[in-house]
Amino acid sequence: MNIITVIGSLSTDFVVIADKRPMVGETVMGQDFKTTFGGKGANQAVAAARLGGKVEMVGKVGSDLFGAEIRDNLIANHVSVTHVEPVTHLASGSAHITLAEGDNSIIVVPGANNAVDQQEILKIHDLLRRSAMVVLQQEIPSETVREVIEFCYQEGIPTILNPAPARELSLGLIEKVTYLTPNEHEFQALFPDLSISEGLKQYPNKLMITVGSKGVLIHNGSEEVLIPAYKVTPIDTTGAGDTFNGAFSVGITEGLDIETSIRFGNLAAALSIQKFGAQGGMPTLKEMKEHPAYEKTWNFK
Ligand code: RIB
Repeated sequence: MNIITVIGSLSTDFVVIADKRPMVGETVMGQDFKTTFGGKGANQAVAAARLGGKVEMVGKVGSDLFGAEIRDNLIANHVSVTHVEPVTHLASGSAHITLAEGDNSIIVVPGANNAVDQQEILKIHDLLRRSAMVVLQQEIPSETVREVIEFCYQEGIPTILNPAPARELSLGLIEKVTYLTPNEHEFQALFPDLSISEGLKQYPNKLMITVGSKGVLIHNGSEEVLIPAYKVTPIDTTGAGDTFNGAFSVGITEGLDIETSIRFGNLAAALSIQKFGAQGGMPTLKEMKEHPAYEKTWNFK
């Protein structure tokens, strides 16, 4: 089976559910508080593994209870943790999430995720060479992301960069990524001088812009296409983008074409937002197969 290597963040999500967000200097009463597994890297790894992907996670946790639980959760989801190591000088990563007014806002404290440095990448050259796809996000240091993309480009290994959260990225590096999956906000941060249509046209079959409940935009070389999202009533949209990226990586590595892989990702994301927590609603392949929108051509296993 094709190996999908995810290099990225591992976190615990501390989630507050409230009717409204506090303004600066204001205190509001919340309804509930929950602790769940998160981190964009771990989320994308779990999403891919639940859909049958053979996933290797590369990341760091702290030598604390949270770190042990994060590792155990990956193992429970059949993600290989051979390259998930504890560090002693930093606490495990955490994300502090407010769910209010129908959407989330998040503060990420990277902690041990900042220890995923360039030295770590030197240790995994062999794994990268054996990977059918390498998946990255931006909750680890930018130099590490750059190192991985440069290496994969030289070696001809396909990459997906989910440029979230938004930060600066050189155009030279963008050229070397196989698939780039920003949301609208991240697209604007990356390409402040381009309209969405101009950006899509400039990067056909590479740039996929996730536009929330509308779906995913791509230029297929001939025209701009919106691949629509499946209509559902969301409970919690946290991790929808991660589910899309994980599922897309499975679709592509299983030989589906880009637009079909996007539809596969869109259905997985639609299912994921119907339950609480970034990973709570991520579907298994069985759950996908049971859905009426499941397409025959996705029947890769
Ligand atoms: O994409 C959602 C994730 O972003 C959350 O799980 C949280 O950990 C933040 O990093």
